[in-house]
Amino acid sequence: MMNVLFVCLGNICRSPMAEGMLKKLFAENNIAGRVDSAGFESFHINEPPDERAISVAKKAGIDISKKKARLFTADDFDAFDRIYVMDTQNMRDVRDVSRNDSDTKKVDYLLNVLGVGVNKTVPDPYHSGIEDCKNVFELMLTACEKIVELAKEKQ
Ligand code: 4NP
Repeated sequence: MMNVLFVCLGNICRSPMAEGMLKKLFAENNIAGRVDSAGFESFHINEPPDERAISVAKKAGIDISKKKARLFTADDFDAFDRIYVMDTQNMRDVRDVSRNDSDTKKVDYLLNVLGVGVNKTVPDPYHSGIEDCKNVFELMLTACEKIVELAKEKQ
């Protein structure tokens, strides 16, 4: 059982795509676990993901159109085993809410699962074109495939 939360800023581009792809990968690989996403910017709360994110995910056979953006809360530290952030701002935001070392230990940069260990970031595609959204999708997919391998080892 591995419960995974993805965190970005708006919860309408990066983290909903990551949520959608990991849910699909968990289902395909019979891995049990809750997968969700959240953000820190209240501007888009309760809205579905960005149209570009929906479209890129749809082309990969993933329907994220039902997702509604929500804010990260301290309760998320209790509900999830791993919390993956996209960039340094997300890392700061999550750490600001963390209550203790146990909380902080659950948080890492998503791309660190690839073993790079240099806190590489998944760039915010919100102010770019759909091509950047697609690139971000592929980048996160590599990381999510690795999360599946790690979850299998834990089973
Ligand atoms: P995301 O992109 O963090 O990948 O969902 C963003 C979407 C909206 C905003 C920022 C980032 N915003 O400030 O509205």
